[in-house]
Amino acid sequence: MTLGFIGTGTIAAAMVEGLGGKDVLLSPRGADVAAALAARFPGVRVATSNQAVVDGCETVVLAVRPQVAEEVIRALRFRPGQKVISVIAATGIEKIKDWIGLDMPVIRTIPLPFVAEGRGVTPVFPPDPEVMALFDRMGTAIPCATIDEFDLLAVGSAIMGSYFGILETVQGWLTSQGLPEVTARAYLGGLAACLGTVAETSPAAFATLREEYSTKGGLNEQVFRVFSEMGGTGALTGGLDSVLARVTGKGK
Ligand SMILES: NC(=O)c1ccc[n+]([C@@H]2O[C@H](COP(=O)([O-])OP(=O)(O)OC[C@H]3O[C@@H](n4cnc5c(N)ncnc54)[C@H](OP(=O)(O)O)[C@@H]3O)[C@@H](O)[C@H]2O)c1
Repeated sequence: MTLGFIGTGTIAAAMVEGLGGKDVLLSPRGADVAAALAARFPGVRVATSNQAVVDGCETVVLAVRPQVAEEVIRALRFRPGQKVISVIAATGIEKIKDWIGLDMPVIRTIPLPFVAEGRGVTPVFPPDPEVMALFDRMGTAIPCATIDEFDLLAVGSAIMGSYFGILETVQGWLTSQGLPEVTARAYLGGLAACLGTVAETSPAAFATLREEYSTKGGLNEQVFRVFSEMGGTGALTGGLDSVLARVTGKGK
């Protein structure tokens, strides 16, 4: 089954790589990325237009930015029997169906760049079995029973910048205190890698892990206590609240 992509950018490229570049038809925009993928994988072809992608496959992945989505999708003619997978953030299924102009299956997903190395955890709504199987090939598909669950995972996915922002802040502080930048970078990168493995593989609750990794009265406990007392956890939940309002269309 050929998988067609409308929009060949970061996420499309990660998916194509995660799928091993088999039976893929790419839209011509994002020409450099498309050319590089076609050169790397014999199973990747670049179509002459967006419409040629839709005409040449059963399942179409919409992978353009939200700002151009309506214009791009309204210009396309889909046919009954096709299936659409949308990776477009904060854009509802009904809206996409309206732009398509046909009542066809539209499945929303949130693939992250880690799908490229087969390590993506990808929320899928509704949990269409074919689409679940597709994302299981690129890591683990997470079925969402409701759009509310899907939206909440979209909020969860928005912590990646903050994760690196915390490391950036700690590195900046260590450097300002006199540690060479390169030493701080190497140390924090290694620490983050070890913590990431624990977060993924331990069955323990995060609260339990926080306690396990904080000696009573010790340094780790102190940083999190001061962080919370100074509004750190409140600021984080404030950020999550504001993103939930945005992904549900009820905020900015
Ligand atoms: N990046 C992430 O981590 C991430 C995660 C989850 C979801 N998403 C969602 O995935 C979607 C794509 O994100 P991205 O990071 O892959 O963006 P991106 O790298 O900017 O890719 C967007 C692609 O769309 C192409 N494009 C623009 N106008 C087009 C048109 N008229 N017809 C066909 N293609 C067109 C662009 O081509 P040109 O380069 O020629 O302009 C580019 O190749 C977004 O909706 C985003 O919300 C992203």
